[in-house]
Amino acid sequence: MPPVNKTSPFSIHALELGPMENFVYLIEDKATGRAAVVDPAWEVSEVLALAKRHGVRITDILLTHSHHDHINGIEDVLKVYDAQLHLLKDEARFWGSYLDIPTLHHGGDRIQLGDTEIEVLHTPGHTPGSACYKIQDQLITGDTLFVFGCGRCDLRGGNPEQMFHTLKDMQQRLADNTLILPGHNYAEKSTSTMGEQLEGNPFMHFDDIGRFVHYRMHYHDKHRDSPYGPVCRGHEMPEHGG
Ligand SMILES: [Fe+2]
Repeated sequence: MPPVNKTSPFSIHALELGPMENFVYLIEDKATGRAAVVDPAWEVSEVLALAKRHGVRITDILLTHSHHDHINGIEDVLKVYDAQLHLLKDEARFWGSYLDIPTLHHGGDRIQLGDTEIEVLHTPGHTPGSACYKIQDQLITGDTLFVFGCGRCDLRGGNPEQMFHTLKDMQQRLADNTLILPGHNYAEKSTSTMGEQLEGNPFMHFDDIGRFVHYRMHYHDKHRDSPYGPVCRGHEMPEHGG
């Protein structure tokens, strides 16, 4: 019997760019040669060169959220490609975007990039309209979930209670083999699986919202430095009794 062709309809390429170790992702739809760039920022020339190397044209820009380090390359992309901008309606409201072209989404929406389907998840906490983008078993997480970390909640629009519920929701709805593609390279490795995060990401260990909020807002940044590694369950706040 001939082998079954299980070739994926898409590829996801990652670039680490800028002074804050941002990951910019290029989702390539192989059938149509279309591509979506997620959070274009910093050295956009490298993103454009990557697209050229793969012979794709950027038709879509997806934003995980509106912080400067994730969006400062939008205009450089638009100078070259007539791309459509996608973000959640809640984030557009928070951002007060000056752009007049975006397509606004709600959690659960799907974006069709040629033969590749991208699911939009609303994951508030870092900002009110933060989004993750799910492409089959890969999840682009922006500043919501990092490898062995999560986004800070003390900036304008941040909300640690929302982050608690967002992470709980992700734990329940995402399979253990889901590959996490974060918005920054803050850990000892650049990707991980959801299963590994359930085990070693301290933010995944809390069942009590009050303790989670305390850990996120007052404890974590004083006691942990990047590059982040795994933390054993129960060892998040040792001197606080576990
Ligand atoms: Fe951010």
